[in-house]
Amino acid sequence: MMEYIGATGVPVSFTDVPIKPKIDFYFILSFAIDADHSGKPMNGVFSPYWEESLTPNAVKKIKASHPNVKALASLSGWSLGNKVLSWYNPKNPQKWITNAYNSLRRIIKKYNLDGIDIDYENFPKNETTFSFCIGELITRLKNNNVITVASIAPYYLTVNYYIKLYSSYGEVIDYVNHQFYTDKVKTPARYLDSFKLRGMQFNATKLLPSYEVNGRGIQGDGFFDALRLIQANGSAVNGVMIFSADDSKSNGFYFEKKSQAFLLNSTANA
Ligand SMILES: *[C@@H]1O[C@H](CO)[C@@H](O)[C@H](O)[C@H]1NC(C)=O
Ligand SMILES: *[C@@H]1O[C@H](CO)[C@@H](O)[C@H](O)[C@H]1NC(C)=O
Ligand SMILES: *[C@@H]1O[C@H](CO)[C@@H](O)[C@H](O)[C@H]1NC(C)=O
Ligand SMILES: *[C@@H]1O[C@H](CO)[C@@H](O)[C@H](O)[C@H]1NC(C)=O
Repeated sequence: MMEYIGATGVPVSFTDVPIKPKIDFYFILSFAIDADHSGKPMNGVFSPYWEESLTPNAVKKIKASHPNVKALASLSGWSLGNKVLSWYNPKNPQKWITNAYNSLRRIIKKYNLDGIDIDYENFPKNETTFSFCIGELITRLKNNNVITVASIAPYYLTVNYYIKLYSSYGEVIDYVNHQFYTDKVKTPARYLDSFKLRGMQFNATKLLPSYEVNGRGIQGDGFFDALRLIQANGSAVNGVMIFSADDSKSNGFYFEKKSQAFLLNSTANA
């Protein structure tokens, strides 16, 4: 189970979220950004911009009370305040990778994190460096045991950039949090088609169906019909990604509860 948290500025804490003991539960802190407060790029020097209540101590406590919890920092996201963020080609990719490695290592140690998620959502037309910089960054973090888990979060317009990254560095990428809610599929049957397409582009075993609370794409219990249809069609549902805890707070975390029940039931029947 993967859950984005802390992106919208709504006060939300880890302890608000219901967590079942037998689920590998990953909180994805949203976001760590290569920019200063005005949104100016810092050549790979990342800073945490997630909701302030998600402190190092809060991470420590939730992990101590729930040994099945891990925490990741998601890189970039859509915007910082009103400033839309984009990948840019660093002048010196090696310098960018070193800066990113050092700044993220500091954040990961400080917050006791287990991994990173890649969520760049905009790219320049002349993009040439994303796959190399991000792939080498993940590889270096893993090789030096700074992180144990890495995920990527493509959406329908960015999928080609992520396919390029995945095709060269797939072995260091553990999960694909494809944003299915951007594929504009509203029915279980179309969700299945989309899942099959993304499963061929990446790796169906690592691909997690996703749900946007109060968002786009399939909504309500239709999501669980889609999960059942994916299984009936012969693919495993190895996890679920939800965006986001911030939005789920007001409905009592209905989708988090039901997704975990679904996953536990699938495991029991496997
Ligand atoms: C790529 O395009 C951006 C504007 O989108 C420009 O600032 C940059 O100089 C270009 N880089 C190369 C290598 O052409
Ligand atoms: C897909 O991912 C699974 C789980 O990590 C792995 O065992 C399998 O070899 C991968 N398949 C391909 C084609 O890379
Ligand atoms: C899975 O779905 C595809 C259509 O997406 C269909 O052609 C195929 O027969 C289905 N397979 C099973 C086992 O249901
Ligand atoms: C659990 O799985 C069984 C067999 O697939 C299914 O019939 C049942 O409806 C499932 N229950 C829930 C709560 O998903």
